[in-house]
Amino acid sequence: MDDFRYVEGELFCESVRASEVARLAGTPCYAYSRATLAAHFGRLEAAFAPIAPLICYSVKCCSNLSILRFLVGLGSGMDVVSGGELRRALQAGCDPQRIVYAGVGKSEAEIRLALSLGIGLFNIESEMEFENLSRLAKETRTRARAALRVNPDVDPKTHRYTSTGKRETKFGVDIERALAFFRTYGADPLVSLKGIHLHLGSPIYTTAPYLEGITKAIALIDALGRLGITVDTLDLGGGFGADYESEQSPLAAEYASAIVPLLEPRTRGAAPLRIILEPGRTIAANAGILLTRVEYVKRSGDRTFAICDAGMNALLRPSHYGAFHFVWPAAPGITMTPPRRARELVMPGLVRTEVVGPLCETGDFLAEDRMLPPLERGNLLAVYTAGAYGMTMASRYNSHPLPAEVLVDGATATIVRRRETYEDLVAHELS
Ligand code: LLP
Repeated sequence: MDDFRYVEGELFCESVRASEVARLAGTPCYAYSRATLAAHFGRLEAAFAPIAPLICYSVKCCSNLSILRFLVGLGSGMDVVSGGELRRALQAGCDPQRIVYAGVGKSEAEIRLALSLGIGLFNIESEMEFENLSRLAKETRTRARAALRVNPDVDPKTHRYTSTGKRETKFGVDIERALAFFRTYGADPLVSLKGIHLHLGSPIYTTAPYLEGITKAIALIDALGRLGITVDTLDLGGGFGADYESEQSPLAAEYASAIVPLLEPRTRGAAPLRIILEPGRTIAANAGILLTRVEYVKRSGDRTFAICDAGMNALLRPSHYGAFHFVWPAAPGITMTPPRRARELVMPGLVRTEVVGPLCETGDFLAEDRMLPPLERGNLLAVYTAGAYGMTMASRYNSHPLPAEVLVDGATATIVRRRETYEDLVAHELS
């Protein structure tokens, strides 16, 4: 699953003690394992090898430049959703041809930037957006390649906030309108519309939604073919799961064994279909932990609170989605090693604990109702599976500076984003 292990009651990230990372960078901080990032990327690449997809890492999940650079070095392209992410991908050395750009609200300035760079694919989410792109291509005397993001009305069986492929969401164009869309825009002289894009939701823990979505996409491609319209690219989006609890998610090979047979015949022959994947979480989530220190322990009513230096400002997922993140002490002194990462652990001596942050909201928690070893002021805690949608969704709420980020490679820990200072907090304000 990852490269975070306990050795004699002490957590290691690869060969570096978590306590050493905390000493180096202070807390709260994110620690990422390069080995885990590489392993997850490699597993996806191997599992989907028969259809040789272009893997475009989804920048939104963890966008630190050092991580992007590392993934580009492994051969990854990038999936971006804003001008800011586009700039990051470029700065990380990504070939613009290997960048795909989705998002329902691309601004004129963002489209101009992407056109000037000659990115690989615009994933178009509405008729109006296509017309805007075409107009801007004409004005700037550029050309573009585009895919239509279809909304296939498939239930990904995940959190309402992150279900994107159902009809009632704002994403893509209803699949029933796709034929008309291609008829209207398929012959645009400047924007070559030859792709279909899907992204059903995130995370998707079974293969069934992919099968349903891809089957609908293939039927659409065939229907377009009958009209003489060729589709040469199918972008399947992301959504592959991660292990928030031990062995919670299908392996890359399991997703692939369902998806590859549907697509493999299409990727061969005279007019092969090019496949794109946009994985984020499945690469980065298990590659990162959040390290936070217990400031105080107190009882309120019949509950025990461990008040930490990180809360919803550092990791929003528990508070925003009710997401489960396994939490356990990281440093020596507490010798109980968790047998697995689970909601309910049955071990002697555990105390029911609320792991909360310092912010002025009752919704500010990292873990509710969790059985943990008795905690004390100064204990270092690890919040697991925090590599995706952790730092990228962090905020400065209550004027807490953003955490540091550390990338571990074997026995070496490098600060790849310094902790913000109080000066940083007010740097953009004009007095
Ligand atoms: N492609 C598109 C078009 C997307 O919108 C997303 C994620 C991805 C790819 C990558 O999905 P992944 O492989 O990481 O599941 N903040 C939420 C997740 C929101 C996902 C948004 N889109 C969370 O913390 O769970």
